[in-house]
Amino acid sequence: MAWEELNFRLTSGSECFLPQESYVTRKEGKENTTQVRETLEPEKTDRKPAANRISFDQDKMDAPGRPELVDFHGISMTKVFTDNWENIQNFQARPDDILIATYAKAGTTWVSQILDLLHFGQTERHKTIPIYDRVPFLEIHIPPNMSGTEQADNLLTSPRLIKTHLPNQLVPKSFWEQNCRIVYVARNAKDNMVSYYHFDRMNQAQPAPGDWNSFFKKFMEGKVVFGPWYDHVNGWWKKKQTYPKIHYMFYEDMIEDTGREIDKLCSFLGLSPSAEEKRMIVGGTQFDNMKKNEMVNYSAIPVMDFKISPFMRKGKVGDWKNHFTVAQNEEFDEDYKQKMKDPTLQFRTTI
Ligand code: PPS
Repeated sequence: MAWEELNFRLTSGSECFLPQESYVTRKEGKENTTQVRETLEPEKTDRKPAANRISFDQDKMDAPGRPELVDFHGISMTKVFTDNWENIQNFQARPDDILIATYAKAGTTWVSQILDLLHFGQTERHKTIPIYDRVPFLEIHIPPNMSGTEQADNLLTSPRLIKTHLPNQLVPKSFWEQNCRIVYVARNAKDNMVSYYHFDRMNQAQPAPGDWNSFFKKFMEGKVVFGPWYDHVNGWWKKKQTYPKIHYMFYEDMIEDTGREIDKLCSFLGLSPSAEEKRMIVGGTQFDNMKKNEMVNYSAIPVMDFKISPFMRKGKVGDWKNHFTVAQNEEFDEDYKQKMKDPTLQFRTTI
């Protein structure tokens, strides 16, 4: 199937998102029109191919069709993340590697760009090499493109910044053995779910999300790629108790005060940028700037259809209120209480 045809089928065949009675409409008495407009009108994005595309060659990519979820060591995954498992498991981490670990859609790209700028400054590299080539995604494997492990092996930077969405129990053992630093970013479950829903709508390499109501259930059951959000955030939080070189961050804190969170990152990493460098990083990585920046906005990835939803979608805390119905919110909160018993791990769904 040609890309154009597949894109057409996806755009014309995808369900429009029209919540019946959203949380915000009922609880806050607001018109719920912004979000509807957002998904119905094609995004006006100029999707020029990025320069230096290394890992995703549009000409080489077959239209893959939507993958199925598979059970992998008890975690829902797709073959894209398990086919290269032997190489992932045997990956040789180096002591100065920095692993950026997140549940999908928690702010990985944002923190990756910040870490890359903190370590290597604003150079030609940032203007010409997309984030997914500067910070390889360890478990990804979409032949004939280079796998994440190969990309990491070939990375010339020191330290190497490496991204993963794996739950902590599946992380290659060499990262622990080498005592690598790990930056974990977590985002509140409600916004994380909404972001994931729109991502799965637009990304043909992900299983089809179905409509909002069915995705809502799948997310709570952990039947999404990388398994249950609840186990992921709790597992990494617990791991921090026995492995102190994890810096556990929250997306909401980043939104509230990016500079403060960069300061904390710097003390964890032993970095001391000048006030001017820090100001440039805080400014350059704000949502609107990242959305415009072709080296971080994923606009060159052929499997992502920005007409359905852009990668840099809203970048907000609290967008869940435009999606959850009142009944869903109650159902969610009840289920959440059962799954999130550790009082030391608290998320904010509004700021
Ligand atoms: S991925 O595919 O898992 O790597 O995605 P990830 O980068 O983790 O998450 C994407 C969401 O993060 C938002 N984002 C940002 N928010 C605020 N500021 C900045 N600079 C920023 N960069 C990315 C992005 O918009 C996605 O969230 P939603 O809610 O969908 O907008």
